[in-house]
Amino acid sequence: MPLTRTLDDATVVITGASSGIGAATAYALARRGADVVLAARTEEALRRVAAHCRELGGQCLMVPTDVTEPEAVRQLAARAAAEFGRIDAWINNAAVSAVGLFDEIPVEEFRRVVTVNLLGAVYGTKAALPWLEAAGGGVLVNNASVLAEAAMPYQSAYNATKHGIRGLADTVRQELRVTGRGNISICTVLPATIDTPLFRHAANHTGHELTPPPPVYPPEVVAETIVRLLRRPRREAYAGGAARLIGLQWRLAPALAERLLGWYTARTQFGPGVRLDSSGNVFRPDAAAEPTGGWHGRRRQLVRMTAFGLAAAGTAVGTMAAMTRRSKAGRA
Ligand SMILES: NC(=O)c1ccc[n+]([C@@H]2O[C@H](COP(=O)([O-])OP(=O)(O)OC[C@H]3O[C@@H](n4cnc5c(N)ncnc54)[C@H](OP(=O)(O)O)[C@@H]3O)[C@@H](O)[C@H]2O)c1
Repeated sequence: MPLTRTLDDATVVITGASSGIGAATAYALARRGADVVLAARTEEALRRVAAHCRELGGQCLMVPTDVTEPEAVRQLAARAAAEFGRIDAWINNAAVSAVGLFDEIPVEEFRRVVTVNLLGAVYGTKAALPWLEAAGGGVLVNNASVLAEAAMPYQSAYNATKHGIRGLADTVRQELRVTGRGNISICTVLPATIDTPLFRHAANHTGHELTPPPPVYPPEVVAETIVRLLRRPRREAYAGGAARLIGLQWRLAPALAERLLGWYTARTQFGPGVRLDSSGNVFRPDAAAEPTGGWHGRRRQLVRMTAFGLAAAGTAVGTMAAMTRRSKAGRA
């Protein structure tokens, strides 16, 4: 079920709202007159996002929150409801990443990525549900990734959490339906690569500068997908054409798609620069981080889009070959 009221009358809580997709979503909602509640760890960055939301016409409350602390997340919900009287939608968006081979990611860092990304969504969902129920219904959106469906080398911790978020969402959705609470919708967003500072924020154990595998889409693509889900909830929505294509290939010919995507992303996620080992923003916010990614440069995009196009065409041919083989085997 969609929101019980129009966006200009709704209260929406967003975690991870201090940069990237969270900030873009806050702006998209503020522009439509929604009351937005912004949560993340960095107060200064939240203040900047809140000021811009107010300029755009939305009412705004910022609540510095670490999503790894369940009581803090419960307090976030209580503060939002106390300020605006209700919560109509909740967006679990906060995440961190640790990039490196599985054997090279320290256990403590792996554990923290799981705690922020997966348990953060668990705490958010637990905090949100009673308020959505009290509002007579609402929408909870989990910003996962196409990596909730597919996989990418050097991203084991991140991939594992995103797969977990998808499973969590599917189960909670079933439970709400079988317990007569179908007026609360649970939606999962599966974005492609997005132009945010995520790759600069990430812990890095590769020895190389990290770059997002192209094609890279602007964060507004995800923000508008989330706005559409609040108006017309669906189980899942891709954001960015490449995510839709990857999802399709992964479903049709998973073994082949796994090989090709592994080959492609292993070659496109490292830049020429050398980097020392770093835990990025996994344990504490990155004070030097920029609010946007700056990866959307046209020349670089063009070169990489060509590479992605070739890889995608290869996968499509392979997918068709696999399907033909399967149907021949079925007929034999
Ligand atoms: N960028 C992509 O290519 C891409 C693709 C698919 C999906 N996504 C998903 O999109 C979402 C947003 O990521 P982004 O790309 O916008 O990256 P981002 O710019 O690095 O944003 C991550 C946000 O999470 C917050 N955060 C991190 N740890 C936190 C914690 N312990 N408690 C509360 N907030 C925390 C960060 O703020 P503080 O540091 O101030 O806490 C920041 O606001 C994530 O779920 C990510 O997995 C991104």
